[in-house]
Formats: sequence, structure tokens, C-alpha cells
Amino acid sequence: SGQELRSEFQNLGTLTENISLCFLVIMFPNGRIVGEKIFMTSGYEGNFDSLKQRCSQAGGQLASPRNAAENAAIQQIVVLYNKSVFLGINDIQTEGRFTYLNGENIVYSNWQTREPNNDKGIEDCVEVYSSGKWNDKSCGEKRLIVCEF
Ligand code: IPD
Ligand code: CA
Repeated sequence: SGQELRSEFQNLGTLTENISLCFLVIMFPNGRIVGEKIFMTSGYEGNFDSLKQRCSQAGGQLASPRNAAENAAIQQIVVLYNKSVFLGINDIQTEGRFTYLNGENIVYSNWQTREPNNDKGIEDCVEVYSSGKWNDKSCGEKRLIVCEF
């Protein structure tokens, strides 16, 4: 009947509102949405390998910004926590050729002036400063985790 249909639509509307509300709660304050991507930190800190493993265990991957908007979302998390993060970008395989975790050459970068400098010959990972700028850094250092989903 028309009345049943109307009440089904009302239920659907309520469901959508509830999902939207849940989403806002979940995203506060550790997540950022950019286009189709969600960036999220758990507050965990560790070296590159352990960050990479944690993100993949959660069904995501270490944050890998492909444009300025995505980088700005990651920067916001760095500022909020006052802690630099490691990206899912490195030149472990070939010195000077920075790639995503799947081996693809990066399509976007935001290096600080005079970086990457491979200081002491041991800097293959990429950290993001609170300025949003990038520095290559030793993968053994501990940084804040930010995953993308
Ligand atoms: C280093 C410098 C350098 C940068 C290195 C850092 P440190 O810090 O800031 O410019 O390229 O990645 O490790 O060794 O002076 O504390
Ligand atoms: Ca450096």
C-alpha cells in the first residue's frame, strides 16, 4: 500500500541519516576524506616496516598522496598530532627513484628545498613535516602512522 511504501522510504531516510552520523563520529578527529580516499591515523608510531605492515593488516596501505589535496589532508593530521609521518613512498629498490609501494614511480611530490638529499647515504623513506613538505629519512626512524583506505 501507499502507506507501507511511505514508511519504508521514511526508514531508508532514517538509515541514511544514521549512517552519515556514524561516519562523522568515526572520522573525528583522526580521519580525513579526500575524494574517494580516507586517510586515518590510530596514533601508533613505529619504523617504516611496522607502519606498512599495520596499514596492510587493517586492509589499507600507508598513506600515498597522489596530489596536493591528498597531501594537505595528511599534513592536517601531522599538525594535529605534532608528529611527522612516513608515506607509502621510498627509493629502497633504486636510489633516487621514488616509488609507491606497488613499485610505480611517484606522480606527485612536495620535497622541501634541498631534499631528497639521502643524508649519510641512508635515507630511503619519506617523512612529511608540519609544513606539508617532504624529507627523505632513514626507514628505521619512528614516525606516526597514517593509512589510506
Ligand atoms: C637532517 C637534516 C637534513 C635532512 C635529513 C635530516 P639532522 O637532520 O635536517 O637537512 O635532509 O634528513 O636527518 O641530522 O640535522 O637532525
Ligand atoms: Ca633528507
